[in-house]
Amino acid sequence: MTTLWSGRFDGAPDRDAFEFGVSFGFDRRLFDEDVTASISWARALGAAGVLPLAEADQIETTLKQLLERGRSDPAFINGADEDIHSFVERVLVERIGDAGRRLHTGRSRNEQVSLDLRLYLMRHIPLLQRGVAGVVAALTAQAESAGEALMPAFTHFRAAQPVLVAHFFLAHVAALRRDHQRLAGARADADALTLGSGAIAGTSYAIDVEFLARDLGFSRVVANSIDASSDRDFAASFQFACALTMVHLSRLAEDLIILCGEGHHFFELSDALSTGSSMMPQKKNPDPLELVRGKTGRAIGHLMAMLTTLKGLPSGYNKDLQEDKQAVFDAEDTLAGSLAAVRAVVRGLTLDREQAARAASGMLLATDVADYLVRRGLPFRRAHEVVGGLVRKLLAEGREFQSLSAKEWRAVSELFDADIAAFVTPKASVAAKRTPQSTAPAAVERVLADVRAWLDENNRRR
Ligand code: ARG
Repeated sequence: MTTLWSGRFDGAPDRDAFEFGVSFGFDRRLFDEDVTASISWARALGAAGVLPLAEADQIETTLKQLLERGRSDPAFINGADEDIHSFVERVLVERIGDAGRRLHTGRSRNEQVSLDLRLYLMRHIPLLQRGVAGVVAALTAQAESAGEALMPAFTHFRAAQPVLVAHFFLAHVAALRRDHQRLAGARADADALTLGSGAIAGTSYAIDVEFLARDLGFSRVVANSIDASSDRDFAASFQFACALTMVHLSRLAEDLIILCGEGHHFFELSDALSTGSSMMPQKKNPDPLELVRGKTGRAIGHLMAMLTTLKGLPSGYNKDLQEDKQAVFDAEDTLAGSLAAVRAVVRGLTLDREQAARAASGMLLATDVADYLVRRGLPFRRAHEVVGGLVRKLLAEGREFQSLSAKEWRAVSELFDADIAAFVTPKASVAAKRTPQSTAPAAVERVLADVRAWLDENNRRR
């Protein structure tokens, strides 16, 4: 095995140590980006007069053939090479000899590996964003078909106040839209050309880096060559965006695991997306949701691993940075798989309207009773006390607000008129809300319209 650096050494490297340092097993995933970037580099070398144009052309043509080959036959990207960069150079030299040996002029793997990963993320983040939009679309469809169906919302996981089922789904949409935005931010962090940085100090050939940036689809060039070889902020940003998206999927999964279960049963999971038990014949388990919740630990772990790898590194490239790739790839795979699973589960949910509405009634309406007294002039703190006393009495007697006669209401407070009964229903409770972010049906409808427009806009831009 010859390496890109064997000239410096008398003998072959220690086999185990070499194997320990090999990254080709996982960085072969950067094949497309590595070859694409090398094609641009060859053009830039030609344009700068470093290579005769004919030779630059020959390199470009051959790299394009390799690109085709690797795309159609992934098994081609294989060998005892140290890493993807060594592989591409080896097969290029095998085909065109010395012209291939000129490609690495003025360039270092330090800038190349960062460039490849940046390009990879710029290409792949939009796919994850599409996955996020897919879950948003599924949640939005559920919100639409729920119409004005009611359910309780929880605080401290105790039933708190009635809300529209649509409002619940749109709560998760709100978080996922932030994730979509955060992924766009991670993509923007990756969007800087590192070529021209050399190993650490820059390059002594008159490379037109602005041309290279344009040619490869970057909107800017890095500001400093030392920073360029050390910087993996873009990878950490990506991992943070993945980890937080996973956290949101996990919380949605947790909500659904509980709300589909026997204790609540506001929704029923599709049979096709549930699993049974090997022993208990009655079981219908929400495995995909549990797996999403479980895999979230992995995504968070990758972010911690990346930050920990970076924290002690001196400036410039250090081999520690090779650890960035597996973490990035696994975060990507974990998120992509989880997005698809959650989308399918959400699409397959069936709402149990009666069960959800029943749970939205009863003592949950206590705040509405207090608000009634406030509208009639009682200070809120006093109203809270009065209604608190009433709740205590009703609980002791096993009764609900709706069972109180006009006379009984009066006995609690003179301020209660005959119309109180009309205020103490879940439907009246949601209708009474006034703010744009509230569960008032008109407000929810406006948010739904906004999400629909956002989804359309996303579809158009694809
Ligand atoms: N496989 C290496 C990595 O992933 C490529 C860069 C190697 N650079 C070097 N100076 N050894 O980081």
